[in-house]
Amino acid sequence: MANEEMRKGWSIGGAGWVANQRIFDAVLGPCSDELLEAATPAPGQRVLDVGCGTGTLLEAAVAAGASAVGVDISDTMVAAARARVPDATVLIADAQVDDLRDGSAGGDFDLVLSRFGVMFFDDPVAAFANIRRACVPGARLAFVCWREGENAMFTLGTSTLLDRLEPQPEADPNAPGPLAFGDPERVRRILHEAGWSGVDLVAVDTVADFGLDGTDGVEERLEVILSGSLGRLARAELEPRLGEQGWAELVDEVRDELRSHLVDGVVRFPARTWLVTAENPVVTAGSSEVVP
Ligand SMILES: C[S@@+](CC[C@H](N)C(=O)[O-])C[C@H]1O[C@@H](n2cnc3c(N)ncnc32)[C@H](O)[C@@H]1O
Repeated sequence: MANEEMRKGWSIGGAGWVANQRIFDAVLGPCSDELLEAATPAPGQRVLDVGCGTGTLLEAAVAAGASAVGVDISDTMVAAARARVPDATVLIADAQVDDLRDGSAGGDFDLVLSRFGVMFFDDPVAAFANIRRACVPGARLAFVCWREGENAMFTLGTSTLLDRLEPQPEADPNAPGPLAFGDPERVRRILHEAGWSGVDLVAVDTVADFGLDGTDGVEERLEVILSGSLGRLARAELEPRLGEQGWAELVDEVRDELRSHLVDGVVRFPARTWLVTAENPVVTAGSSEVVP
Protein backbone atom coordinates (compact mmCIF):
# COMPACT_ATOMS: atom_id res chain seq x y z
CA MET A 1 0.00 0.00 0.00
CA ALA A 2 1.26 3.53 -0.80
CA ASN A 3 2.72 5.58 2.03
CA GLU A 4 2.43 2.69 4.49
CA GLU A 5 5.55 3.66 6.43
CA MET A 6 4.26 7.22 6.84
CA ARG A 7 0.81 6.00 7.89
CA LYS A 8 2.38 3.96 10.70
CA GLY A 9 4.94 6.64 11.58
CA TRP A 10 2.38 9.46 11.82
CA SER A 11 -0.11 7.35 13.71
CA ILE A 12 2.52 6.94 16.44
CA GLY A 13 4.28 10.29 15.92
CA GLY A 14 0.92 12.07 15.84
CA ALA A 15 0.60 11.52 19.58
CA GLY A 16 3.57 13.84 20.18
CA TRP A 17 2.10 16.49 17.89
CA VAL A 18 -1.26 16.27 19.63
CA ALA A 19 0.31 16.47 23.11
CA ASN A 20 2.46 19.41 22.06
CA GLN A 21 -0.04 21.21 19.83
CA ARG A 22 0.33 24.42 21.89
CA ILE A 23 4.12 24.39 21.38
CA PHE A 24 3.93 23.65 17.64
CA ASP A 25 1.32 26.33 17.09
CA ALA A 26 3.41 28.92 18.89
CA VAL A 27 6.72 27.94 17.26
CA LEU A 28 5.23 27.54 13.75
CA GLY A 29 2.79 30.45 14.16
CA PRO A 30 4.87 32.86 12.04
CA CYS A 31 4.89 30.26 9.19
CA SER A 32 1.08 29.98 9.37
CA ASP A 33 0.79 33.78 9.29
CA GLU A 34 2.95 34.03 6.15
CA LEU A 35 0.95 31.26 4.47
CA LEU A 36 -2.45 32.74 5.34
CA GLU A 37 -1.31 36.16 4.21
CA ALA A 38 -0.33 34.72 0.81
CA ALA A 39 -3.58 32.75 0.44
CA THR A 40 -6.32 34.03 2.69
CA PRO A 41 -9.40 31.77 2.83
CA ALA A 42 -12.52 33.77 1.93
CA PRO A 43 -16.15 33.34 3.00
CA GLY A 44 -17.89 30.66 0.95
CA GLN A 45 -14.67 29.21 -0.49
CA ARG A 46 -14.08 25.49 -0.38
CA VAL A 47 -10.69 25.00 1.29
CA LEU A 48 -8.70 21.76 1.48
CA ASP A 49 -5.94 21.40 4.11
CA VAL A 50 -3.55 18.58 3.13
CA GLY A 51 -1.88 16.81 6.06
CA CYS A 52 -4.02 18.94 8.37
CA GLY A 53 -2.55 17.54 11.58
CA THR A 54 -4.35 18.88 14.64
CA GLY A 55 -6.29 21.41 12.55
CA THR A 56 -4.52 24.78 12.91
CA LEU A 57 -5.27 25.92 9.35
CA LEU A 58 -8.75 24.39 9.42
CA GLU A 59 -9.54 26.58 12.41
CA ALA A 60 -8.34 29.66 10.51
CA ALA A 61 -10.33 28.70 7.39
CA VAL A 62 -13.55 28.14 9.35
CA ALA A 63 -13.01 31.44 11.23
CA ALA A 64 -12.72 33.16 7.82
CA GLY A 65 -16.13 31.77 6.79
CA ALA A 66 -14.79 29.13 4.39
CA SER A 67 -16.06 25.59 4.08
CA ALA A 68 -13.04 23.61 5.29
CA VAL A 69 -12.03 20.01 4.61
CA GLY A 70 -8.94 18.50 6.22
CA VAL A 71 -7.32 15.25 5.15
CA ASP A 72 -4.63 13.43 7.06
CA ILE A 73 -3.18 9.94 6.91
CA SER A 74 -2.88 9.75 10.73
CA ASP A 75 -5.90 8.61 12.74
CA THR A 76 -4.36 10.26 15.83
CA MET A 77 -4.12 13.66 14.12
CA VAL A 78 -7.62 13.40 12.63
CA ALA A 79 -9.21 12.66 16.02
CA ALA A 80 -7.53 15.77 17.46
CA ALA A 81 -8.52 17.99 14.50
CA ARG A 82 -12.15 16.83 14.66
CA ALA A 83 -12.33 17.69 18.35
CA ARG A 84 -10.66 21.05 17.81
CA VAL A 85 -12.62 22.20 14.73
CA PRO A 86 -16.09 20.59 14.80
CA ASP A 87 -17.28 22.82 11.95
CA ALA A 88 -14.70 21.39 9.54
CA THR A 89 -14.93 18.05 7.75
CA VAL A 90 -11.85 16.04 8.72
CA LEU A 91 -11.08 12.74 7.02
CA ILE A 92 -8.54 9.98 7.48
CA ALA A 93 -7.28 9.90 3.90
CA ASP A 94 -4.10 9.54 1.89
CA ALA A 95 -3.92 12.66 -0.27
CA GLN A 96 -1.86 10.74 -2.83
CA VAL A 97 -4.31 7.95 -3.60
CA ASP A 98 -7.76 8.65 -2.14
CA ASP A 99 -10.22 10.35 -4.47
CA LEU A 100 -10.86 13.75 -2.90
CA ARG A 101 -13.79 14.42 -5.27
CA ASP A 102 -15.89 11.66 -3.73
CA GLY A 103 -17.92 11.16 -0.60
CA SER A 104 -17.35 13.47 2.35
CA ALA A 105 -14.37 15.28 0.80
CA GLY A 106 -16.61 16.51 -2.01
CA GLY A 107 -14.00 18.07 -4.32
CA ASP A 108 -14.51 21.44 -6.07
CA PHE A 109 -11.86 23.09 -3.93
CA ASP A 110 -11.04 26.77 -4.55
CA LEU A 111 -7.98 26.79 -2.31
CA VAL A 112 -5.55 24.10 -1.14
CA LEU A 113 -3.41 24.88 1.91
CA SER A 114 -0.78 22.94 3.80
CA ARG A 115 1.60 23.76 6.63
CA PHE A 116 4.43 21.22 6.42
CA GLY A 117 2.00 18.44 5.35
CA VAL A 118 2.98 17.69 1.73
CA MET A 119 6.58 16.38 1.90
CA PHE A 120 5.76 12.80 2.88
CA PHE A 121 4.41 11.22 -0.33
CA ASP A 122 5.98 8.10 -1.92
CA ASP A 123 4.99 9.57 -5.28
CA PRO A 124 4.69 13.36 -5.00
CA VAL A 125 3.72 13.87 -8.67
CA ALA A 126 0.81 11.45 -8.29
CA ALA A 127 -0.18 13.16 -5.04
CA PHE A 128 -0.23 16.69 -6.43
CA ALA A 129 -2.08 15.48 -9.56
CA ASN A 130 -4.67 13.78 -7.33
CA ILE A 131 -5.09 16.94 -5.26
CA ARG A 132 -5.39 19.07 -8.41
CA ARG A 133 -8.12 16.83 -9.85
CA ALA A 134 -10.26 17.70 -6.81
CA CYS A 135 -9.91 21.45 -7.50
CA VAL A 136 -11.93 23.83 -9.64
CA PRO A 137 -10.15 25.45 -12.61
CA GLY A 138 -8.24 28.49 -11.34
CA ALA A 139 -7.97 27.09 -7.79
CA ARG A 140 -4.93 28.21 -5.80
CA LEU A 141 -2.40 26.04 -4.00
CA ALA A 142 -0.27 27.45 -1.16
CA PHE A 143 1.96 25.57 1.23
CA VAL A 144 5.01 25.99 3.45
CA CYS A 145 7.82 23.44 3.54
CA TRP A 146 11.36 23.38 4.92
CA ARG A 147 14.10 24.90 2.76
CA GLU A 148 17.44 23.30 1.85
CA GLY A 149 20.52 24.15 3.95
CA GLU A 150 21.19 24.22 7.68
CA ASN A 151 17.91 23.73 9.52
CA ALA A 152 18.09 24.01 13.30
CA MET A 153 14.53 22.69 13.66
CA PHE A 154 15.99 19.22 13.05
CA THR A 155 19.35 19.58 14.77
CA LEU A 156 19.36 22.00 17.72
CA GLY A 157 19.68 20.08 20.98
CA THR A 158 20.03 16.63 19.38
CA SER A 159 23.79 16.00 19.74
CA THR A 160 23.62 14.46 23.23
CA LEU A 161 21.22 11.75 22.05
CA LEU A 162 22.89 11.22 18.66
CA ASP A 163 26.29 10.75 20.35
CA ARG A 164 24.89 7.83 22.40
CA LEU A 165 23.23 6.04 19.47
CA GLU A 166 24.76 3.98 16.68
CA PRO A 167 25.56 6.30 13.72
CA GLN A 168 22.33 6.94 11.82
CA PRO A 169 22.34 6.08 8.09
CA GLU A 170 22.86 9.03 5.71
CA ALA A 171 19.38 10.16 4.65
CA ASP A 172 18.44 10.50 0.96
CA PRO A 173 17.55 14.22 0.71
CA ASN A 174 14.63 13.44 -1.65
CA ALA A 175 13.17 10.56 0.36
CA PRO A 176 9.67 11.20 1.77
CA GLY A 177 10.11 13.17 4.98
CA PRO A 178 10.11 16.71 6.37
CA LEU A 179 13.14 17.82 4.31
CA ALA A 180 12.12 16.29 0.96
CA PHE A 181 11.07 19.63 -0.58
CA GLY A 182 14.23 21.57 0.21
CA ASP A 183 15.41 21.71 -3.41
CA PRO A 184 13.41 24.40 -5.26
CA GLU A 185 13.97 22.88 -8.73
CA ARG A 186 12.60 19.55 -7.53
CA VAL A 187 9.48 21.24 -6.12
CA ARG A 188 8.93 23.14 -9.40
CA ARG A 189 9.35 19.95 -11.44
CA ILE A 190 6.95 17.96 -9.24
CA LEU A 191 4.24 20.61 -9.43
CA HIS A 192 4.63 21.14 -13.19
CA GLU A 193 4.48 17.39 -13.85
CA ALA A 194 1.36 17.23 -11.69
CA GLY A 195 -0.24 19.87 -13.94
CA TRP A 196 -0.03 22.97 -11.70
CA SER A 197 0.90 26.28 -13.34
CA GLY A 198 2.34 29.60 -12.16
CA VAL A 199 4.55 27.81 -9.63
CA ASP A 200 6.37 30.28 -7.39
CA LEU A 201 8.72 29.69 -4.45
CA VAL A 202 9.61 32.48 -2.04
CA ALA A 203 12.26 31.99 0.66
CA VAL A 204 10.68 32.95 3.98
CA ASP A 205 12.78 33.26 7.13
CA THR A 206 10.92 33.33 10.40
CA VAL A 207 12.05 32.77 14.00
CA ALA A 208 11.18 29.54 15.80
CA ASP A 209 10.78 30.79 19.35
CA PHE A 210 10.23 28.12 22.01
CA GLY A 211 9.89 30.63 24.86
CA LEU A 212 6.16 30.33 25.47
CA ASP A 213 4.60 32.60 28.08
CA GLY A 214 7.96 33.98 29.19
CA THR A 215 9.79 30.64 29.65
CA ASP A 216 13.33 30.04 28.39
CA GLY A 217 11.90 27.39 26.02
CA VAL A 218 14.18 24.58 27.27
CA GLU A 219 11.33 22.32 28.46
CA GLU A 220 9.28 23.09 25.34
CA ARG A 221 12.15 22.22 22.97
CA LEU A 222 12.94 19.14 25.07
CA GLU A 223 9.31 17.96 24.75
CA VAL A 224 9.47 18.31 20.97
CA ILE A 225 12.77 16.40 20.77
CA LEU A 226 11.70 13.58 23.09
CA SER A 227 8.33 13.04 21.40
CA GLY A 228 9.85 13.11 17.90
CA SER A 229 11.35 10.16 16.03
CA LEU A 230 14.90 10.67 17.43
CA GLY A 231 13.67 10.99 21.01
CA ARG A 232 11.47 7.90 20.72
CA LEU A 233 14.31 5.88 19.19
CA ALA A 234 16.78 7.05 21.86
CA ARG A 235 14.43 6.18 24.69
CA ALA A 236 13.61 2.74 23.25
CA GLU A 237 17.31 1.91 22.82
CA LEU A 238 18.95 3.66 25.75
CA GLU A 239 16.54 3.52 28.69
CA PRO A 240 16.68 -0.28 28.97
CA ARG A 241 20.49 -0.04 29.06
CA LEU A 242 20.82 3.01 31.31
CA GLY A 243 17.88 2.36 33.62
CA GLU A 244 15.37 4.97 34.74
CA GLN A 245 17.92 7.04 36.67
CA GLY A 246 20.49 6.91 33.86
CA TRP A 247 17.89 7.97 31.31
CA ALA A 248 16.81 10.89 33.55
CA GLU A 249 20.47 11.97 33.78
CA LEU A 250 20.82 11.80 30.01
CA VAL A 251 17.70 13.95 29.61
CA ASP A 252 19.32 16.46 31.98
CA GLU A 253 22.33 16.51 29.65
CA VAL A 254 19.98 17.37 26.77
CA ARG A 255 18.67 20.27 28.91
CA ASP A 256 22.28 21.44 29.42
CA GLU A 257 22.91 21.22 25.68
CA LEU A 258 19.81 23.35 25.05
CA ARG A 259 20.89 25.90 27.68
CA SER A 260 24.22 26.27 25.87
CA HIS A 261 22.32 27.51 22.77
CA LEU A 262 20.07 30.16 24.35
CA VAL A 263 19.73 33.40 22.41
CA ASP A 264 18.80 36.33 24.67
CA GLY A 265 17.95 33.74 27.31
CA VAL A 266 15.56 31.73 25.11
CA VAL A 267 15.67 28.69 22.79
CA ARG A 268 15.18 30.55 19.56
CA PHE A 269 16.55 29.97 16.05
CA PRO A 270 15.92 30.81 12.41
CA ALA A 271 13.30 28.74 10.56
CA ARG A 272 14.13 28.55 6.85
CA THR A 273 11.12 27.75 4.70
CA TRP A 274 9.75 27.95 1.19
CA LEU A 275 6.37 29.53 0.66
CA VAL A 276 5.12 27.77 -2.47
CA THR A 277 2.15 28.95 -4.54
CA ALA A 278 0.62 27.65 -7.78
CA GLU A 279 -2.65 27.53 -9.72
CA ASN A 280 -4.81 24.90 -11.31
CA PRO A 281 -4.84 26.06 -14.92
CA VAL A 282 -8.10 27.16 -16.48
CA VAL A 283 -8.60 24.97 -19.55
CA THR A 284 -9.95 26.92 -22.51
CA ALA A 285 -11.27 25.51 -25.79
CA GLY A 286 -8.35 24.39 -27.94
CA SER A 287 -5.86 24.12 -25.05
CA SER A 288 -4.78 20.73 -23.76
CA GLU A 289 -4.71 19.88 -20.08
CA VAL A 290 -1.77 18.00 -18.58
CA VAL A 291 -3.18 14.88 -16.95
CA PRO A 292 -0.37 12.82 -15.43
C1 LIG B 1 4.61 17.80 10.02
S1 LIG B 1 2.96 17.29 10.25
C2 LIG B 1 2.12 18.83 9.98
C3 LIG B 1 0.74 18.84 10.56
C4 LIG B 1 -0.03 20.15 10.42
N1 LIG B 1 -0.18 20.55 9.04
C5 LIG B 1 0.62 21.23 11.23
O1 LIG B 1 1.29 22.10 10.66
O2 LIG B 1 0.47 21.23 12.47
C6 LIG B 1 2.67 16.42 8.70
C7 LIG B 1 1.29 15.87 8.57
O3 LIG B 1 1.14 15.30 7.25
C8 LIG B 1 0.37 14.12 7.36
N2 LIG B 1 0.57 13.25 6.18
C9 LIG B 1 1.71 12.59 5.84
N3 LIG B 1 1.51 11.88 4.70
C10 LIG B 1 0.23 12.10 4.30
C11 LIG B 1 -0.56 11.65 3.20
N4 LIG B 1 -0.07 10.81 2.28
N5 LIG B 1 -1.84 12.09 3.12
C12 LIG B 1 -2.37 12.92 4.06
N6 LIG B 1 -1.65 13.37 5.12
C13 LIG B 1 -0.37 12.99 5.26
C14 LIG B 1 0.86 13.52 8.68
O4 LIG B 1 -0.01 12.54 9.20
C15 LIG B 1 0.98 14.76 9.56
O5 LIG B 1 -0.20 15.03 10.26
